[in-house]
Amino acid sequence: MNFRLPRQDKFLFELPKVSKMAQRPYIVGNWKMHGTRAMLAEARAIDRAAERLIKVEVALAPPYTLIHATRKEAGLIGVGAQDCHPADGGAHTGDISAAMLKDAGAGFAIVGHSERRADHGEKDADVREKADAAISAGMNVIVCVGETEEQRDAGKAESVVAKQLKGSLPEGEGVAEKVTVAYEPVWAIGTGRTPTVEDISAMHVSIRNVLQKLYGEEAGAGVRILYGGSVKPDNAAELLSADEVGGALVGGASLTAESFLGIIIAAAGGEEG
Ligand code: PGA
Repeated sequence: MNFRLPRQDKFLFELPKVSKMAQRPYIVGNWKMHGTRAMLAEARAIDRAAERLIKVEVALAPPYTLIHATRKEAGLIGVGAQDCHPADGGAHTGDISAAMLKDAGAGFAIVGHSERRADHGEKDADVREKADAAISAGMNVIVCVGETEEQRDAGKAESVVAKQLKGSLPEGEGVAEKVTVAYEPVWAIGTGRTPTVEDISAMHVSIRNVLQKLYGEEAGAGVRILYGGSVKPDNAAELLSADEVGGALVGGASLTAESFLGIIIAAAGGEEG
């Protein structure tokens, strides 16, 4: 056979740009403070199924104590942490640094979840410090934002979320590609209530605008925006159909392989493969 490869520079020049349309939906399970080693069986089952569901990018954020074991048992899916400390190390009893999480096998960290903002008084500036620490340690970040019910009722949902984004998102050269945003209305988390598809679309379009102002048009267009809050197998397809929704951050319904796979299959368009 006699064929010639194109010249390297021409080849690179002609490669199509990966647009956000080409990105696979990203479905992330947040196990919160649930799970002992017995739950590794669920992680294994999710991992095995993910092998057949290549249209979807799947990840789990188990509690710290299971990160290393999950990474070992589930070789295909992403594994991440639910938080990290902003410092590299030091006298912080009970805390865990980003470098330690990376060493344990975490590829990403969720930061700024509303339960951390509420339970631990984390402010936007703290969230940004944590995101910076995770990125410096070589991880990606999922930065969570979302309004309370009171703020939505007052018509302030979009301005509240825009302010959170401006205060929490990491900045700097090349950072956008390490960032995923999760929009999680506080009132929808664990309640079985969800916003309408129209409300989710409006919020995600507004988040996209903030991202493009912050990171520039192209880099801001590439950041995935997940929806989170009471995502279940039976509402996933509808919620994922909203404009600018690139996946889901799933709490309760990620705790068993059966329900999490229902969401992953919905994200794959209802079929395996
Ligand atoms: P939920 O939690 O799916 O149980 O509502 C979502 C989250 O907090 O990430």
